[in-house]
Amino acid sequence: MDRPPLVRPPGAGPADPHQVHLTLASGGGVWVSWATGDGSVGGGDRPPPRLASVVQFGQSAAGLGRTARGASETYTQAFPGGESYTSPRLHHVHLSAADLEASGKEGAAARAVFYRVGDPGPGGAWSPVRAFTPPPRAGLGAYPVRLAVLGDLGQTHNSSTTLDHLTAAARGEPAAGAAVGGAGGGGVAAASTTTTTAAPTPPPAQAVFYLGDMTYADDYNPDGTLRAWPAPPLPYTPSYGPKWDAWGRFTEGLFSAVPAVTTAGNHEIETDAAGRSFQAWRARYKSGPGKGPAALASTAPLYGSVDVGPVHIISLNTYAPWDPASAQRAWLEADLRGVDRSATPWVFVLMHAPWYSSYASHYRELECMRLDLEGVLAAGSVDAVFSGHVHAYERTSRVLDGVPQPDVGGCAPRYVVAGDGGNLERLYTVFTSGPGPAACPPAAAADECGQAEAAAAAADPANNPPFCDATQPRWSMLRQPAYGFGMLDVLSPTRARWSWYANVDGRVRLADSAEWSRDEACLSAAGRAAADARAGARGTAPNAAERADAADAAPPPAAGYAPPPPAELPSQLAAAARAGVAPPPP
Ligand SMILES: [Fe+2]
Repeated sequence: MDRPPLVRPPGAGPADPHQVHLTLASGGGVWVSWATGDGSVGGGDRPPPRLASVVQFGQSAAGLGRTARGASETYTQAFPGGESYTSPRLHHVHLSAADLEASGKEGAAARAVFYRVGDPGPGGAWSPVRAFTPPPRAGLGAYPVRLAVLGDLGQTHNSSTTLDHLTAAARGEPAAGAAVGGAGGGGVAAASTTTTTAAPTPPPAQAVFYLGDMTYADDYNPDGTLRAWPAPPLPYTPSYGPKWDAWGRFTEGLFSAVPAVTTAGNHEIETDAAGRSFQAWRARYKSGPGKGPAALASTAPLYGSVDVGPVHIISLNTYAPWDPASAQRAWLEADLRGVDRSATPWVFVLMHAPWYSSYASHYRELECMRLDLEGVLAAGSVDAVFSGHVHAYERTSRVLDGVPQPDVGGCAPRYVVAGDGGNLERLYTVFTSGPGPAACPPAAAADECGQAEAAAAAADPANNPPFCDATQPRWSMLRQPAYGFGMLDVLSPTRARWSWYANVDGRVRLADSAEWSRDEACLSAAGRAAADARAGARGTAPNAAERADAADAAPPPAAGYAPPPPAELPSQLAAAARAGVAPPPP
């Protein structure tokens, strides 16, 4: 990594705030969070001393006339051998939307709020003054809205490059917008739809979608040494807590200026020897509703939603129960029912592990979740789903049940995989099918539903879809193993532009873009019925000859590719197999 934030700067005192960051709060406003003191390994669960949690804020660096107060907490991850980790003191203060509107400058695009954090009492200290642009209130209809997308960042040299590029873009610095992609740069291919003119002065991002897997602390033993792989089975997940503190300082420049919306990944689970999971993520990155102790509780939900102007953002947890009887499923259905699409017409979902990916690693890991919840997202007219986990990039067409849907007039979500921040676990370069390096992974790596699909395909290939396609799936519009980040510009109630920036020889390059539309008709019963009819028009699954004909007829997926009519029904077969019954006859 280019910068060494593992330890705090020499001379930093125990009351000096560090790891300052912002997260969007459910119910409006932002959480301002920071740490004081140091985390410790083997410290005997002795947390740093208590300090007040205070934010001073206002319209200028010299005019911090308002004050908000919050609370602090610590946590301990228990590991055997005297290597338990106790966190620094973690402070959280909620600034409501009303607070922010009263403090920001009126009118101009930059309604900057200046702030500092700390403790005004004896022995306390203040951070430097920082500034951010508050997100617009839900339903204000303020366009454009710019949302950055980042996942699986870690803390490596590649992470530094991605973070620098994203921070510049999120701050609206021209360098990111001026770096226009083209084929042939450093091996990163550009899609043929790549925009050739980028906005010269892109607006600052209002938020960062963080797609999970932050620090990769659990790739280390509690003593800081790198874990052996494959890891021996243990009743807990070893982890090196100071990596969380290092990551908090590493990302401070970005997240103290642009609020994050996070979803937890598998590297946030970190089940310790006492059986506690998600402790670090919950204690450091708040997503609970509004003010008060409930939002700070260790039992705060692992999923939630927030609004940014005309955008409603749902954060799901792919490692919490999502089955039909689960609290998460009930919450998701209620949340989607409650969205006022006249106020927040756009709905996006963040979840760490993807449903649609044609990379060999993590292939069909969440097939059961897809089968259970894809219809819920489609019925809720979700516009796009963003995931990480797969350390590469892939963008799909609108797709429902494996069948590409038209972008204009279609009602299913698009899916973006952007787990390409740059962590130490390497880039994924092998696809499930050619062209290019390809390997269909063993079915045992998939979840039970993926395994059932593989078994059905092996037992009766004439009447079941193959476990891996012979070519790039028709729903896969672009897939590219490269590090980078995304940027989503929501331009109007019906138009948005997606951009993906790749790291190429240390420079940022626009390597993919797509124009996305919304169809208001999808919200109506008639519109949903039409969409369902399109998906349902697939009839029975094609036999091998029909699939071969379709493959011959289908052009290779590329930008501008018009999806052919729906033709396959893989999940019906998988659901039947999962239920232990024979698949439907052809
Ligand atoms: Fe992951």
